[in-house]
Amino acid sequence: MRAIASATRLVEHFAAQQVHPCYAVNEPRVGIDAPVERIRGRCFWWKLRAISATGPGFLGYGHYAATTLGDSVVDTRWAIFGTGGISAKFVSGLRHAKGAKPNLVVSRSADSGRRFAQAFGIPEVAEGYDSVTAASPFDVAYIATPPSEHARHAIACIEAGKAVLIEKPFASSVAEARRIADAARAQGVFCMEAMWTRFNPAARRLRDLVREGAVGEVRQAHGAFCFTNEPDAANTSFDPQRGGGALAQLGVYPISLLHWLFGAPEDVAAFGRTGDTGVEEDAAISLRFAGGVVATVNTSLRALGDNGLRIGGTHGSVAFEGPIFRPYGVRLQRMTPRRKGGDTGLGRKALLREQGLPQKLSQLHGLLTRSGKVERQLFAGNGYHYQVEEVGRCLAAGLKESPEMTLDDSIAVMETMDTVRERIGGQR
Ligand SMILES: NC(=O)c1ccc[n+]([C@@H]2O[C@H](COP(=O)([O-])OP(=O)(O)OC[C@H]3O[C@@H](n4cnc5c(N)ncnc54)[C@H](OP(=O)(O)O)[C@@H]3O)[C@@H](O)[C@H]2O)c1
Repeated sequence: MRAIASATRLVEHFAAQQVHPCYAVNEPRVGIDAPVERIRGRCFWWKLRAISATGPGFLGYGHYAATTLGDSVVDTRWAIFGTGGISAKFVSGLRHAKGAKPNLVVSRSADSGRRFAQAFGIPEVAEGYDSVTAASPFDVAYIATPPSEHARHAIACIEAGKAVLIEKPFASSVAEARRIADAARAQGVFCMEAMWTRFNPAARRLRDLVREGAVGEVRQAHGAFCFTNEPDAANTSFDPQRGGGALAQLGVYPISLLHWLFGAPEDVAAFGRTGDTGVEEDAAISLRFAGGVVATVNTSLRALGDNGLRIGGTHGSVAFEGPIFRPYGVRLQRMTPRRKGGDTGLGRKALLREQGLPQKLSQLHGLLTRSGKVERQLFAGNGYHYQVEEVGRCLAAGLKESPEMTLDDSIAVMETMDTVRERIGGQR
């Protein structure tokens, strides 16, 4: 007990010393209103301080990443379309979102709808996706069915006058994406793709750093999202009829984040490998953006990758800490451009550096440390609620689209993905 009490006092002591940036300035910083701490060096106490400083945010309450729209949200009742794994994660996240409550589960079968509703204490269940009408008890539908079903389910909701948040990929083709956007615009209904990473505090911080010029002129970017799975035609990821494929399941994250940072690419090149079920299982993509930024994206259903995002510029690089879909910090590494002629390689220091012992020490140092400065942007809850709060903020502001994830942007991402699929063709 005494040990627990002193550990608690220690954490409180560090938390008390911490000045949260949101309290240090009167106004929250645009785009970032989340726990932030710079970790200097590798010092354990600084890391402990950073974690304790996030306080309730780290434990799962309270903090959220405000966008430029401010903090007001409207109260919303949500309908959950589909009872798969992502719906469960989403509903777990929903309870951390201001003003949002799950009110209805929509499923192909009443049984699985009821099981899901019971697990999360959701009061209403509807059997069949066609059963939804204007009178159904919800304000916003979260569409988490396979990509091939997104357009049908989203348009049914839109025509019933309901707002929609549609899982990534927005649709299974650009033609379907346009149909959804046209329907939403014609009905004057709010519609957004659930590209949740765009609302994650670390992603917002990375974009701010890039825009502020923290890495100088941006010239390069790399993103990857690759996991290894047993090929299985019963799994949506491997089923072309249901909109599977590495791009739709995983590659859409780096592609969408690069669109968010640099706009739509001007050129797209790609190689890939198509599996026995007919979906692309691997893709290596090159993109060129206006202004000359060049980027590479790797995605795979069959191989593990580095699963990060890194932006490189003339004066350094900034990368996610943590996985590309749910990062919890950024690592900023600065570097002054090197000049030819400064180092002849003949000076005493230069010659000494090339000896075995200094090289061993530098490897040891490299093993114990990683270069760059880390800012932790720990997310609250499981991170899915940030996008939900964005929906609430947009509805409060009377917007039909989120400025952070516009319909045109979802269409442009689908265009890029269709082009990549075209380039890959049936490469095996
Ligand atoms: N944001 C994220 O982190 C994340 C993670 C994973 C997936 N996703 C996205 O979420 C969506 C759903 O993915 P998932 O992996 O959960 O898909 P899934 O397991 O194949 O399907 C999800 C649910 O959709 C319903 N459904 C409706 N029509 C269906 C059909 N023709 N075939 C199969 N199921 C059908 C089923 O629920 P009922 O039986 O109740 O009708 C099923 O449980 C996809 O767009 C995917 O890309 C997002």
